[in-house]
Amino acid sequence: MRIVGGVPAAEKKWPWQVSLQIRDTHICGASLIHHQWVLTAAHCIFGHFEYTVKMGDINVRHGAHTAVTVPVRDIVVHKYYYSIGTISNDIALALLEFPVNYSSHIQPICLPEKTFKVESGKECWVTGWGKREESEPSDSAPFHLQEAEQNIIHRQKCNEIFQRKLSRNDMVTEGALCGSNERGKDSCQGDSGGPLVCEYNNTWIQVGIVSWGIGCGRRGFPGVYADVGYFRDWLVAQVNQASSLDPVALLTFGLLLVLPLGTLVTP
Ligand code: ARG
Repeated sequence: MRIVGGVPAAEKKWPWQVSLQIRDTHICGASLIHHQWVLTAAHCIFGHFEYTVKMGDINVRHGAHTAVTVPVRDIVVHKYYYSIGTISNDIALALLEFPVNYSSHIQPICLPEKTFKVESGKECWVTGWGKREESEPSDSAPFHLQEAEQNIIHRQKCNEIFQRKLSRNDMVTEGALCGSNERGKDSCQGDSGGPLVCEYNNTWIQVGIVSWGIGCGRRGFPGVYADVGYFRDWLVAQVNQASSLDPVALLTFGLLLVLPLGTLVTP
């Protein structure tokens, strides 16, 4: 029983899965969305540490020859992320020190289009190296990547579930969705930041980011995920903004300015 109630993943099945690490220790999941950008949860970022990302390997500890570890250059945390009472806008982007080459073991995951809406009840998958049971100590979490099915529950319905169980309103805030599984499969501590993905005509799309839950795998309590589609514009804006400050982009921009001047002075 892994993730909670999951099974070990096959190699190359989830090639966008990333481990966010501090000093070679796994702290959170993440996903590769572009050569140089990794998506994770805001609550995984808790200070000025030297983060690295590891990918291309189902084993979180040992370095297979297919594995790549890259330092993180910069992190953008959503400016309205908060975690008082409930967790909201739990999304962050990490810019890598250098771009990674794609391979059979390393591939980016697609992001949903703006108009995309995952249907409720859809069977999707969550993956990670998090705890296999709520009571498991974090340091004995699995080395081998785990996967589990999650059925999508939309925000409003999910709020009704939490309301009934905990008598608290609006725990699932705008920009979040839920996943649940009748057989108690769930994400857990250490899976946060990792992807919830669904398959559409042979294409995998990331619809969620592991965010929070009440314990793990408790029957009747869904897991809560940041809704990637909801943040699509935010994501695109951050990546564009950072690329416009990128030295390579600036250099190209500089050349464009220099060239016309050059043509002026040449005979
Ligand atoms: N917050 C957890 C983490 O930091 C993830 C918890 C997800 N819980 C759940 N029951 N789905 O790793």
